[in-house]
Amino acid sequence: MKALVLAGGSGTRLRPFSYSMPKQLIPIANTPVLVHVLNSVRELGVTEVGVIVGNRGAEIEAALGDGARFGVRVVYIPQDAPRGLAHTVSIARPFLGDDDFVMYLGDNMLPDGVVEIAEDFNRQRPAAQVVVHKVSDPRSFGVAELGPDGEVLRLVEKPQQPRSDMALIGVYFFTAAIHEAVAAIAPSARGELEITDAIQWLVSSGADVRARIYDGYWKDTGKVEDVLECNTHLLNGLTPRVDGQVDADSVLVGRVVVEAGARVVRSRVEGPAIIGAGTVLRDSHVGPHTSIGRDCTVIDSRLEGSIALDEATVTGVRGLRNSLIGRAASVGTTGPGTGHHCLIVGDHTRVEVAA
Ligand code: TTP
Repeated sequence: MKALVLAGGSGTRLRPFSYSMPKQLIPIANTPVLVHVLNSVRELGVTEVGVIVGNRGAEIEAALGDGARFGVRVVYIPQDAPRGLAHTVSIARPFLGDDDFVMYLGDNMLPDGVVEIAEDFNRQRPAAQVVVHKVSDPRSFGVAELGPDGEVLRLVEKPQQPRSDMALIGVYFFTAAIHEAVAAIAPSARGELEITDAIQWLVSSGADVRARIYDGYWKDTGKVEDVLECNTHLLNGLTPRVDGQVDADSVLVGRVVVEAGARVVRSRVEGPAIIGAGTVLRDSHVGPHTSIGRDCTVIDSRLEGSIALDEATVTGVRGLRNSLIGRAASVGTTGPGTGHHCLIVGDHTRVEVAA
């Protein structure tokens, strides 16, 4: 089996971050989503990975290289524009050949793994096997209507009156039968070649299409709230480790990772939390549920439930919560007693200050 990992797309829901970086490189517990995805793929014993990249392909190549660091071999497949998930299958055909493959959305996190689901596919080899997850409001998802043995009877995209609460999530298993389906469908109303249309084409033509339920933790990291929630979930499983320096006036509580070269001075770090390599924390209180990237500076601040990306600076800010701070961004104060806020806010950015 091969893997097709999708790391193109436009990432509009993750602006402003997606203006300057591919959203698949957003760190969760200080590791890019895409690296979590590669680890999940390798767990299946799959080593041949095609990665679909869009206009930010160079940055993705810089992060993954040839894949050797992650125990896989990566081939990059450029997509000229986000023309849909089924379009990625068609442009990957030379890489995929007639092999079975797992298609994995590069912004989806399934930290409990899909090993058993993959084993079922390998044993039974239906034309396609989708992965579904019970959701409370299926109206914003592709929904699968299932028969008693997990066979897919019908797929409906964003149904107004859902007849099932089983939503399709970001992992699919295919045999080469999918290629005929992809070639047969036309673009949808939003102008994309939809994978749900291709799978529905298989169902309609009588092919064996099955669903397997994933009941572990799942998150589509396409929005800031979901990135923060997923970060919290992963940090809860952190193994504490201190490779950096923590001075005698500092306290670490619970599951805390201090990476090599980080310095914690007169500060309190409340786990779960991770302090990235080369970061300096001084006179601050960080955590719980907070990830600070590499080479950040946090001085005289209080930060919880948040993520700071590499090289961010936070100075003198005492109430930061549920915040995502971009690379080399700086958050500070206007000084004591000035009584005003000073904001330099990029496009499609959101700022909320205390009322
Ligand atoms: P989405 O998150 O559905 O699409 P998007 O990236 O355009 O995001 P937004 O809705 O915020 O604008 O895509 C799921 C994954 O598949 C994501 O990792 C991007 C990738 N993708 C491609 O590689 N090519 C494509 O043509 C599309 C539509 C998505």
